[in-house]
Amino acid sequence: MALVAPSILSADFGHLDRDIREVVSLGAEWLHVDVMDGHFVPNLTLGPVVVQAAARAAGPAVVDVHLMISEPDRYLSDFRAAGAQVITVHAEATHHLHRSLQAIRATGALAGVALNPHTHESTLDYVLDLCDLVLVMAVNPGFGGQSMIEASLPKIERLRERITALGLPTLLEVDGGVKPDNAHRFTSAGAQVLVSGSGVFGAADRGAAIRALQRA
Ligand code: DX5
Ligand code: ZN
Repeated sequence: MALVAPSILSADFGHLDRDIREVVSLGAEWLHVDVMDGHFVPNLTLGPVVVQAAARAAGPAVVDVHLMISEPDRYLSDFRAAGAQVITVHAEATHHLHRSLQAIRATGALAGVALNPHTHESTLDYVLDLCDLVLVMAVNPGFGGQSMIEASLPKIERLRERITALGLPTLLEVDGGVKPDNAHRFTSAGAQVLVSGSGVFGAADRGAAIRALQRA
């Protein structure tokens, strides 16, 4: 069974508490929170104050914070204090990825690294043992509702092979354009955590969408 992480980017921010409680009660194991700074990506979203409110509503679900921000090291402890259990930084957003991953683990959170569509997986060769999670972007980050990029599939396959070859417990997550009807392609490639924003919050039946993603 895949783990499902609904992305609140597609939730109703006027009723965020209600929307989060709904998807968690419908069985979502994780909750994905997209933080954007208008600099690393061309969009702005939210900061630690909203993560704190989301974490409260998430209850038992794992709070998975995806930082699409420049210089993420400056904010790690703030997001951890707000309730983040997984903190993911972009390999392209930090000059010292090794240090950033160590800094995340030092907060007590699980350390994740995200790769933009153009970034080769070999960029992680010397830090994979520091990654509790690798997030493969299947779209260019910044917006929900985009179509998945095919090249993300062989990237997931190669990362899965490498993680298995090294015997690491690193989780593989995919984000962007993941829907109930294409999710099996990502899980077949080796993804274990499926982020889905419009695929869950935009569905007429959110429970059915979550169950279909889990069974993918
Ligand atoms: C995009 C975000 C995603 C986004 C996914 O930059 O990182 O988490 O919410 O949205 P969908 O699932 O609609 O592609
Ligand atoms: Zn995301």
